[in-house]
Amino acid sequence: MSAAAGLSNVPAPHVPVLLAEVMAGLAVAPGETHVDGTFGAGGYTRAILEKGAARVYAFDRDPDAIQEGEALAASSGERLTLVPERFSRMRQALTARGVDAVDGVTLDIGVSSMQLDRAERGFSFQADGPLDMRMGREGESAADFLNNASEEAIADILWRYGEEPKSRRIARAIVAARPLERTGALAEVVRKAVGWKPHMKKDPATRTFQAIRIHLNAELDELADGLAAAERALRPGGRLAVVTFHSLEDRIVKRFFRERSGGTPAGSRHRPAIGDPREPTFERVAKPVSPAERELAANPRSRSARLRSAIRTEAPAWKGSIQ
Ligand SMILES: C[S@@+](CC[C@H](N)C(=O)[O-])C[C@H]1O[C@@H](n2cnc3c(N)ncnc32)[C@H](O)[C@@H]1O
Repeated sequence: MSAAAGLSNVPAPHVPVLLAEVMAGLAVAPGETHVDGTFGAGGYTRAILEKGAARVYAFDRDPDAIQEGEALAASSGERLTLVPERFSRMRQALTARGVDAVDGVTLDIGVSSMQLDRAERGFSFQADGPLDMRMGREGESAADFLNNASEEAIADILWRYGEEPKSRRIARAIVAARPLERTGALAEVVRKAVGWKPHMKKDPATRTFQAIRIHLNAELDELADGLAAAERALRPGGRLAVVTFHSLEDRIVKRFFRERSGGTPAGSRHRPAIGDPREPTFERVAKPVSPAERELAANPRSRSARLRSAIRTEAPAWKGSIQ
């Protein structure tokens, strides 16, 4: 029986972005051990298993994603282990399972289609739902934040994580409309505040929703810490492939690979600490890859996806995340 035979009984719910390109970057060989840091609907994990990986540790902070992955795990012949954890805790979670080093790590940053499509998760400004937006279903919700934070704090989040030029005007409108409990109501407040016209290509609520989601889930810190965790988990020759969805995330990955492959980060004020030799931990950093025309036509959500990948050297991991 081929390694993939049992998997075909479990339906694949959606086509993951840049699948062929990610698989080329990961170069999975039969018998290897891999980490999928963002299991989601399991698209990458399934492909890694189909290439004959002996073991995949698939992380997701969303308990729904883990629960829905159980059918795939059951059909994998014990090759798939689901880990209900944040990928920044990859090293500890692997050590707890007796794993020292892995051959590949993949991260597909952002929300899943499942999270966006389910109105009750509160990520969507197109379908009305409660103002939630918590990937891990714990901690502060979007409603908690928007109904309690100061106008300045809200404006700062919209500016930093949404790059929203009208952050102050929107924050003022949010505070005036409190309490807000539904995504539909928030989207309306934003549209009114910025003067939305039906011909506009992009819904003006896009940036606001992105910013609040990134803030609540500490997504940029998670990404920086996840890259450093992957550096520690990979064996020499191991591959790291990272897909991002917007420029704030891509910048972090670009800087990480530039720094860790020997390039000096632009404008860095930091010097190597004593006892931290800072030899390059990654090499053969590939040029960034965007979806081909065919993928864009089939899946417009893939529009801003970008893949960066590189290969782990033998140098010891650096202390901390990017500088
Ligand atoms: C874009 S989806 C991944 C889709 C997946 N590649 C597939 O093929 O189905 C991102 C997933 O990562 C999860 N996620 C986001 N940040 C995470 C983190 N810091 N740790 C673990 N999981 C995370 C989300 O809950 C979501 O399910």
